Amino acid sequence: MSKDLPFDRREFLKTAAAVAGVASLPGFAFAQGAKIKIGLMLPYTGTYSQLGVAITNGFKLAVAENGGKLGGRDIEYFTVDDESNPAKATDNANALVTRDKVDVLVGTVHSGVEMGIVKVVRESGTLHINPNAGAGAATGALCAPNIFRTSFTNWQPAYPMGKVLADRGIKKVVTLTWKYGAGEEAIQGFKEGFTKAGGTVVKELYLPFPSVEFQPLLTEIASIKPDAVFVFFAGGGGVKLIKDWQAAGLKGKIGLYGSGFLTDGVLDAVGDAAEGIETTLHYGDGIETPKNKTFRLNYAKTYKLQPDVYAVQGYDAGLLLIAGMKAVKGDVSRKKELYAAMEKAKIDSPRGTWTMSKAHNPIQDIYLRKVVGKENKVMGVAHKALADPARGCKMG
Ligand code: BEZ
Repeated sequence: MSKDLPFDRREFLKTAAAVAGVASLPGFAFAQGAKIKIGLMLPYTGTYSQLGVAITNGFKLAVAENGGKLGGRDIEYFTVDDESNPAKATDNANALVTRDKVDVLVGTVHSGVEMGIVKVVRESGTLHINPNAGAGAATGALCAPNIFRTSFTNWQPAYPMGKVLADRGIKKVVTLTWKYGAGEEAIQGFKEGFTKAGGTVVKELYLPFPSVEFQPLLTEIASIKPDAVFVFFAGGGGVKLIKDWQAAGLKGKIGLYGSGFLTDGVLDAVGDAAEGIETTLHYGDGIETPKNKTFRLNYAKTYKLQPDVYAVQGYDAGLLLIAGMKAVKGDVSRKKELYAAMEKAKIDSPRGTWTMSKAHNPIQDIYLRKVVGKENKVMGVAHKALADPARGCKMG
């Protein structure tokens, strides 16, 4: 009977096999007009919420300037508020990778949450671009071909401040930070630079993340009377520390320094309490390049907000993905070529042009900045083309 049918079983199987063959060819899925799926896993609530918003804005601005597409493909966004909560990190990342089947996972801000993402993408092989979290292991012991970062390691902006302070004759420093990966790594970075240059960290003070109960610690600092204090704080925590420092009468008496996250994106909120604070970071508001000026203008016009380092890192995540997707004409299945293009990319960033290290972390200038009015003004370069040591990374 079946042989009399116009489309018999054998023919059906042959056709099905041919279709499956075509579907497995690189490029088939998106040739049908499928959108590229981008997962944005960032904090949109809590002390780092403004950082998440700035990264999202920066990423979308880069894509908009590229005609709204990646490698010729339209984009579908999947957004998760990770709340800067490490306990929910693997579930959140798994939801994007397994449920939503994103092609690229962009995130996050908090180093503890980043460790959850790293675990998931190392297992799934999903392309991951980290636009902030400085966890050293992501481009250190846990580095991988599919993990890229467009920001910094926590070590990177903190290390140069050690020499800056020691060269000024500062000998005794107290450090203060939240007790979690980012704070501890930043303090280690500073301490490495400072002790190498002859200084001594006389006391390391901590409080749990995201507590802003600074008062007892500021009282302790006043009694120790160090030459200076080096801190790692960011977002809402930075705002509170700067205000409490002034309210405690320490401003003008003991020098307050930090990685530049302390004063980035917070100057409208802190008023004159931040005036004169010096920090080290891979970005400064007034970098005098046409690229930075255009970026700042376009960002301000689009979002009615001033950009900060987080917006730049999000923007650069967009630029990096644009470079990779262009090389493979939107075909994310061509992983080898995609990653090779991303490794080779020279990112024409508002911070200055940077390249990728073998461990997939930016090699970049670290600026010395000073708060002047509403600006993190660049005073000079504290360390030229600084690469993270990428301890434990076996790649490259
Ligand atoms: C971090 O957790 O890695 C981080 C958070 C905010 C600013 C900088 C680093």
